[in-house]
Amino acid sequence: MLILTLETTCDETAAAVVTDRLEVLASVVASQDDLHRRFGGVVPEIASRAHLERILPVIDETLRKANLSLAQIDAVAVANTPGLAGSLLVGLSAAKALCVARQIPLVAINHLQAHIYACRLAAGREVFPCVGLIVSGGHSSLYRCSGPLDFELLGGTIDDAAGEAFDKVAAMLGLPYPGGPSIERAAAGGNAKAYSFPRALLRDPRLDFSFSGLKTAVRYAIAAAKKGSELFFPGAGRIADVAMEKNSSDPFFRLSPEQVADLAASFQEAAVDCLVGKTFAALKQTGMCTLCVGGGVAANSRLRQRLQEEADRRRIALHVAPLRLCTDNAVMGAIAVERLRAGRVEGLDLDVFPGVIRKAV
Ligand code: KG4
Ligand code: ZN
Repeated sequence: MLILTLETTCDETAAAVVTDRLEVLASVVASQDDLHRRFGGVVPEIASRAHLERILPVIDETLRKANLSLAQIDAVAVANTPGLAGSLLVGLSAAKALCVARQIPLVAINHLQAHIYACRLAAGREVFPCVGLIVSGGHSSLYRCSGPLDFELLGGTIDDAAGEAFDKVAAMLGLPYPGGPSIERAAAGGNAKAYSFPRALLRDPRLDFSFSGLKTAVRYAIAAAKKGSELFFPGAGRIADVAMEKNSSDPFFRLSPEQVADLAASFQEAAVDCLVGKTFAALKQTGMCTLCVGGGVAANSRLRQRLQEEADRRRIALHVAPLRLCTDNAVMGAIAVERLRAGRVEGLDLDVFPGVIRKAV
């Protein structure tokens, strides 16, 4: 059985062809990073318009790479939750049109479940039950994953997502978008102990994250690190505008490369501490001994290293999505195979659900 999977939840337009034996025949990802770079983050309206332009060429390219025609596809699966409403609509509309034209089944994909399923694909064997940590530009969520389709929210961010914090701090430091890889590169040459940033909620028994205080602490540290910081700080406008303006043109306000590296390393260490601390608290609370980690921030090598160290120490089986499957892609949409096996086919009234679902079954 051949399944075409579509992914348009945020700012990647992606398609893949997978089989019911979880083989990947082709995968195409059209990134929109170039379109959003000058804004320092994803602009929803630009994202949905770009999806509209790209979805059909991406599907064509995927079929071409798989050496298949549309007539050979047996089902279409599409991520319909969570994500940006306009972006989700583009993928869902395309999927519905293909299903109507070909009279084939439509399958719904929960994007967060798909991020965890990337670990199942890479492992080549069952990884459930497990605690699932999804860390991306839009989400920082911990789930009790009783099975691939049976997720219960244990905790999540109460403000910024982890990736969002990386992106915003990178903008403040004048580093290019997307911020996660830029921070990681800058941090490689820095001292993670140079600045002591807050680790929010770590002593709180709830399994929630908070990154906005950390982001604000970095902003104040940047201001203090710059000579004459008091000149621009009062009444400042948007954080990114102020930081980029002062960073780029006026030498009086510019941070040295060493300061940028130390700030990036110290921020990264604090963010990783929060993610690792809460994740292992979740494993302890649930009594589970397998951990799966997915989403764009899971590409961060310091996070991967710290998770592995902690997992080894506590004898937890750790599965982190391989780098190519961390950021958004349609290969992880192979979770559609599980839905099809469970007889979960959708009607044409399937809608988009932008928000996070607490209990997905
Ligand atoms: O999963 P993803 O592609 O999209 C969403 O569903 O949001 O994740 C994108 C996020 C961005 O915020 C990006 O900065 C972050 O993942 N990211 C990283 C790294 N690579 C991507 N964050 C930290 N370190 C990285 N190496
Ligand atoms: Zn994602």
